[in-house]
Amino acid sequence: MLSEFQETLLQSVKAYQSTQLVKNKYENVLQQLDSGIMLFDSDGVLTFINVQMARLLEIPRHSLIGCNLLQLLRHPHISRYKKRKILRLYRETIFYRKKNHEFVDEYGRYWLATVTYGDQMDGDYLLSVKDVSEFKQIEQTAYQNDKLAMLGKISAAIAHEIRNPLTAIRGFIQLLRPHLVQLGRDEYARIILNEIDRANDIIYEFLNSSKPSAPQKVVISIASLLKEVVLLTESEALMMGCEINLQEADPHMKVSIDVKQIKQVLLNMIKNAMDAIEEVSEDHSGVIEIDARLDGKYVNISIRDNGNGMDKALLGRLFDPFFTTKEKGTGLGLSVSYRIIKNHRGNIHVDSFKGTGTVFVISLPLVP
Ligand SMILES: Nc1ncnc2c1ncn2[C@@H]1O[C@H](COP(=O)(O)OP(=O)(O)O)[C@@H](O)[C@H]1O
Ligand SMILES: [Mg+2]
Repeated sequence: MLSEFQETLLQSVKAYQSTQLVKNKYENVLQQLDSGIMLFDSDGVLTFINVQMARLLEIPRHSLIGCNLLQLLRHPHISRYKKRKILRLYRETIFYRKKNHEFVDEYGRYWLATVTYGDQMDGDYLLSVKDVSEFKQIEQTAYQNDKLAMLGKISAAIAHEIRNPLTAIRGFIQLLRPHLVQLGRDEYARIILNEIDRANDIIYEFLNSSKPSAPQKVVISIASLLKEVVLLTESEALMMGCEINLQEADPHMKVSIDVKQIKQVLLNMIKNAMDAIEEVSEDHSGVIEIDARLDGKYVNISIRDNGNGMDKALLGRLFDPFFTTKEKGTGLGLSVSYRIIKNHRGNIHVDSFKGTGTVFVISLPLVP
């Protein structure tokens, strides 16, 4: 039989063991939390630090326990960057009594720090930091998308509104034209009309590009699509003394596309090829080669020219809206083409050498 004293002792030991067990469990949870945690006592001495926080500081945990803030700042392993961040955090949360403080670490990650103290903490200071990089990124993308969408809407509205006065101006210039001819100023009328047409072209292409219209898809064979496109451009090419060679494509290769949109892309690329050929000397015999090849589940349509070609700097800006090297260019053809091809889950690839020529390759998913 146990004496009363022994009984009490045993119970105390058991109680102690179970509290210890619970304590260990809590400590384990805190250690493995994905937020970094630090606890300072009322004298400012660090009594607890978890794995994540030590990782963030890049200092072993055991060498930090028992340090006060000053010792922490003087720690031989702490970087100057971190020192500055800690001082700033101290100033913001303790000095200015802000609840939260956001900072960026040297690797570009965003952290949200929260400091809790006062009655609820029994004099202790709890600092927790959380990696909020992902939220930040989502927030920034959303903001960016919002801005772009808004800009797109405003620009489309403006572009649309500009068209009406342009039409009116065009009409009146035409009415005035006979009078200008009498004055020997027909040249003025011609320039005005040309410039109005150019403005209209820009607006037309812009409105086309800003409308993210879903493709109206039909299944069509690549061979017949290419034939039609070549037919549309052949006469213009002939006039320029430029040859278009279309390689017969396999009639079984079929794609599901918005024919109008893809035609627009191909016509634009052929037009660009002709412009590039025109840039080279007059007697240069220009050739545009078009072919379509099977590439797994895709068809690669290539449009190759022996025009002036492009250097690296130009290649990098090719698809930027409004980027053009032509006096009468709009710089919208390729940016619109890119959007159309992406809408069809395809891709555009370019290879070019200054002075040799260029090849554009459009990949489109095949209909199985
Ligand atoms: N085949 C090509 N060869 C050389 N340069 C090209 C070719 N295609 C496009 N470019 C360059 O890319 C620019 C942008 O083309 P694009 O978006 O179609 O606008 P634009 O034809 O109105 O200038 C052109 O001004 C030209 O400098
Ligand atoms: Mg173009």
